[in-house]
Amino acid sequence: MTRQSLVAANWKMYGTWTGVNNILATIKQGLAQNAGGEVAIFPPFVYLAKVARLLHGTKITSGAQDICSVTGEGAHTGEVSGVMLRDVGCRYVIVGHSERRTLYGETDTMVARKFFAAQEAGLVPILCVGEQLDERESEQTEAVIARQLDVILEHPGGVASLAKAVIAYEPVWAIGTGKTATPAQAQAVHAFIRGKIAAHDQPIAEKIRILYGGSVKSTNAADLFAMPDIDGGLIGGASLDAPQFLEICRAAR
Ligand code: PGA
Repeated sequence: MTRQSLVAANWKMYGTWTGVNNILATIKQGLAQNAGGEVAIFPPFVYLAKVARLLHGTKITSGAQDICSVTGEGAHTGEVSGVMLRDVGCRYVIVGHSERRTLYGETDTMVARKFFAAQEAGLVPILCVGEQLDERESEQTEAVIARQLDVILEHPGGVASLAKAVIAYEPVWAIGTGKTATPAQAQAVHAFIRGKIAAHDQPIAEKIRILYGGSVKSTNAADLFAMPDIDGGLIGGASLDAPQFLEICRAAR
């Protein structure tokens, strides 16, 4: 089964009004002849509508870094709903990024609620999973990933929901640290994730895209993307450097 690759640029809380124009101009020009994989941009909320407008007419898609609210519209000062994200042009939304889990106390249960709320709003969730360094060192990696996946898989309709979702494996110790999982380490976890989904539904397991994230750079992207169960990347730091990001996109084709 061939899966279309996806390279996602997670800009985190970086960018300015002018900076967005500049970086997107370079990316659009660099991907004008891009026949292969999919590329998606994840700017901060305030730039979402602008990014969607600048990408209009291109094949590049976009999404949000989080779905704040799991409810529909209402008296929730300061929140943003999934329907609103869809309305301003998002196709995807990242849920359960490790920075949200560790800095903002998001639990597996909250992440699951966000995952299903995103789908209900017509967004494709990108579910992030990954272990901390001490968990890897104490050989808990698979147990942690299994727990993070089970909140989705054990939900009624859970495995079917993965037909319209993406998973990102991001070892927490590799995020923003310059320390990347080796292609073999990443492949082992990707294969574990796919195997776990296959135990529930083989066709969905073969179809779902599983991205790797954590210090992906132009220098290591090709080796990671060459692994059979790695279908692209979730790129943080290197996605803010347009020429480097373009090289990563080329490596995914
Ligand atoms: P990084 O971030 O590429 O800077 O390690 C990845 C991510 O947090 O998604």
